[in-house]
Amino acid sequence: MNHFQYKDKDLYCEDVPVAQIAAKLGTPLFVYSHATLTRHYQAFDKAFGNVDHIICYSAKANTNGAILKLFANMGSGLDVVSGGELHRGLAAGIPANKIAYAGVGKTQNEIDLAINSGILMFNVESFEELQAINARAKALGKKAPISLRVNPNVDAKTHPYISTGMKKNKFGIAKEAVLEAYKAANALEATDVVGIDFHIGSQITQVGPFVEAMESVKALASDLRDLGINVKYLDVGGGLGINYKDEAPPEPDEYAKAICKVIADFPITVVLEPGRAMVGNAGIMVTKVLYLKEGTTKNFIIVDAGMNDLVRPSIYDAYHLIQPVNMREGNPITGDVVGPICESTDFLAKDREIGAVTSGDFLAVMSSGAYGFAMSSNYNSRPRACEVMVKGQAFEVIRARETYEDLTRGENIPTFL
Ligand code: LLP
Repeated sequence: MNHFQYKDKDLYCEDVPVAQIAAKLGTPLFVYSHATLTRHYQAFDKAFGNVDHIICYSAKANTNGAILKLFANMGSGLDVVSGGELHRGLAAGIPANKIAYAGVGKTQNEIDLAINSGILMFNVESFEELQAINARAKALGKKAPISLRVNPNVDAKTHPYISTGMKKNKFGIAKEAVLEAYKAANALEATDVVGIDFHIGSQITQVGPFVEAMESVKALASDLRDLGINVKYLDVGGGLGINYKDEAPPEPDEYAKAICKVIADFPITVVLEPGRAMVGNAGIMVTKVLYLKEGTTKNFIIVDAGMNDLVRPSIYDAYHLIQPVNMREGNPITGDVVGPICESTDFLAKDREIGAVTSGDFLAVMSSGAYGFAMSSNYNSRPRACEVMVKGQAFEVIRARETYEDLTRGENIPTFL
């Protein structure tokens, strides 16, 4: 069931009219549906129900503490890429032994925090990182559980900016070199080789690339077995796409079947790192039309949300459906939906028919739950938006709108000024 639906002419999130939330809390505003978030977690959990698995929700898609808490309550682990995400995960009650830590540039402080917290595993992305983790574990008198992230050189057939599993990408260890890296890792004193990991990209809309990557790591797992290295975990990363416009990504069921088929005869725990598929369609961004402006060649619908609030259209040319929160009679307007930021790339949509709108109306920018607020910034000194979670007829703020005071927090005027 879609929890963002029109009742008559008004858009609702679950049982609450979106306009009611926007009128109370102002715009720009992110609104998340509790029921959708819950359903998405359950869909993954059920799809992989026949195999040992750990869902490590990918925090980077949406790091709000309430969302992490909701997933923690359902038994989720976490995929993190920084000390900050690790900190947030632990604070939200995600058990440390369900946290996988990826990323090509882990610092010493971050490595120490992860070792001391007792995480599930580091997903190691280079030889040098491996040495660094070993050295820190030794210094702390502990053993660090590690997986090596393999770069399987698979084309994920997605936007090049969100493709991660090809030779030209900075991620992982090339599949030609990874066996040597495993031998090296296995010989280190303070690391424990527990898994294999890959992540080939994001917004992937076919199962083919996942299967190709799986075949490659399955061969690796057999080679490792021959060497006497028995890994417990196969971390298949995230990357399952969602429907923004007219994509038809596989459902978690189909994705699970394709993955599990490859490892049917392999006793291994599957670790999943879905981000976008968990939160993307569970959230919308609400913005207000400030002005309608007729340019010489096109119309501009000027709204109060900019690229600092939702940057995906600007940097990936991403499509987000935009709908009036309250449908009204009249002639639909076609134009560019643009924000108040001083950049020509500050747009939410180009040459889009938006329906009949007038200044003061609210618009809903759909599918904004993933990489929306999480990628927002204070550019042009714009306080970041408010976030709200809806459950049935109830809604509560899960992050207050920033204030002007927040903008200058931490700044210091030097004594010599
Ligand atoms: N695991 C790792 C190691 C990752 O790097 C990512 C995403 C994920 C899991 C989760 O992937 P997902 O299931 O969300 O596709 N900002 C871009 C997406 C960047 C994804 C980066 N890594 C966007 O807005 O489209």
